[in-house]
Amino acid sequence: AQGEQINTHIVTLTRFLTEEQVKHKEATGDFTLLCHALQFSFKSIAYYIRRATLVNLTGLAGSMNTTGDEQKKLDVISNDLFIEAMRSSGKCALLVSEEEEEIIFFGDAKHARYALACDPIDGSSNLDAGVSVGTIFGIHKLAEGSTGTKEDILKPGTELVAAGFTMYGASAQLVITMRGGSVNGFTLDTGLGEFILTHPDMRIPRRRAIYSVNEGNSLYWEDDVKRYFESLKQPSPETNGKPYSARYIGSMVADAYRTLLYGGIFAYPADKKSPKGKLRILYECAPMAMVFENAGGQAIDSNMNRMLEVVPENIHDRAGIFMGSYDEVEKVKGFHKK
Ligand code: AHG
Ligand code: MN
Ligand code: MN
Ligand code: MN
Repeated sequence: AQGEQINTHIVTLTRFLTEEQVKHKEATGDFTLLCHALQFSFKSIAYYIRRATLVNLTGLAGSMNTTGDEQKKLDVISNDLFIEAMRSSGKCALLVSEEEEEIIFFGDAKHARYALACDPIDGSSNLDAGVSVGTIFGIHKLAEGSTGTKEDILKPGTELVAAGFTMYGASAQLVITMRGGSVNGFTLDTGLGEFILTHPDMRIPRRRAIYSVNEGNSLYWEDDVKRYFESLKQPSPETNGKPYSARYIGSMVADAYRTLLYGGIFAYPADKKSPKGKLRILYECAPMAMVFENAGGQAIDSNMNRMLEVVPENIHDRAGIFMGSYDEVEKVKGFHKK
């Protein structure tokens, strides 16, 4: 009788990807192998984060990255783990990382067909407090005949073949989506050492009265942004006469994961202090936008343009972002009409 309680129909990430692969006649298995390397990097980053306070991995590395952030020790280690996983996969031709000034070209990977963008640890200011952080990734395919150039990664999110993130929270949660596909969530079973499909076909609720933004920046916000967030704090018939709830962790991955599950809005608008926004297009905004759109939500920049259509000129370019429930993003647009 006990046996009946145990789920023996377990869909691991590997099984999921293999089953996806057989649906695509032209698939070579390279993408599956690339994802295998990716999931290893997530497992190892999760492992070091869990052990950080025990093995002196808290605090600063003593260096700064190109976008002006002070690097934590775990930013540096996770970046190295990620690079090594991509290099050894043999399937990655080039990599953009938040922690690397320039594109890394893996010249040895002669037959590699993919270009990756990653934020090895998103929310690293939260690390020493044990608050949830994550890894974000976006996967592009090289142009026909290309052996890997910067044009293969300086592309809009509409060109992404896959994207997602892993959140290192109470458990490690991997969310992945492929172009034109659904969004699927996996939980790392630390006993099995496998990501298990726990959230198939994730759909973001149409609306929910929760907003997530660093309100400490409101002094610098443009008037439309101020009016929009102010409106959420007023009682409204849509929310049974109550104002919205505020939730802001300060790790986009964690704020985004909650928004994906519960609905509402996450924003990091461009403002007078950061006229181009804070979050970076290639490895923060675009992958998240793909996840949100494929889950039935929306993601736009501070010009109210579809985030997935924003084309970065440089690998570390930034954008303002509003993403979340479909109806909530519509409301944001409504406040920006002149
Ligand atoms: P990262 O840790 O990768 O540099 O990203 C930090 C980002 C993002 O995680 C978060 O949403 C945002 O910065 C928080 O910024 P504020 O502290 O300005 O709110
Ligand atoms: Mn950073
Ligand atoms: Mn980040
Ligand atoms: Mn980061």
